[in-house]
Amino acid sequence: MLDLGLESKAKTEETVNGLNLYLANLNVLYVKLHNFHWNVVGFNFFEMHEKLQELYEFVALELDRIAERILMLGYKPVASLEGALRLTTLKEAPSVDFSSVNVARAVIHDFTEVVKQIRKLAALAGENNDEYTIVLLGDAIGFYEKNIWMFRAYLTPVK
Ligand SMILES: [Fe+2]
Repeated sequence: MLDLGLESKAKTEETVNGLNLYLANLNVLYVKLHNFHWNVVGFNFFEMHEKLQELYEFVALELDRIAERILMLGYKPVASLEGALRLTTLKEAPSVDFSSVNVARAVIHDFTEVVKQIRKLAALAGENNDEYTIVLLGDAIGFYEKNIWMFRAYLTPVK
């Protein structure tokens, strides 16, 4: 039995469930951000195409960090697309043309959903003395909040 000195098994299991939900959302985001990267159209194509690549590259690294954290805690990450789709709270997007405004709105929506979920999860990890999970989630919260701010600025008309 793995004993890392965490507060309780119940809280560790609850944390793992939350990490698996986050992992499922990352899987959906990974595909969805590629979809936008490919299907964005309009005069902002070049900047959006590039920005979306930056976002899915972060998501790719984050997927690995979160899955490996679950393993460090002694549990199994959900490692199939079927499992991810069962758990996710995000909606996939169809393969159609997207304006950069619609992309920005969708990214703000999904990042806000994710940030709310992992903030609660970080608080739970705190109750369980799970410092490393807090650090991982704290860094991710910073990334999502920074991008929410930037996409909101992008959508704000100049007065
Ligand atoms: Fe590409």
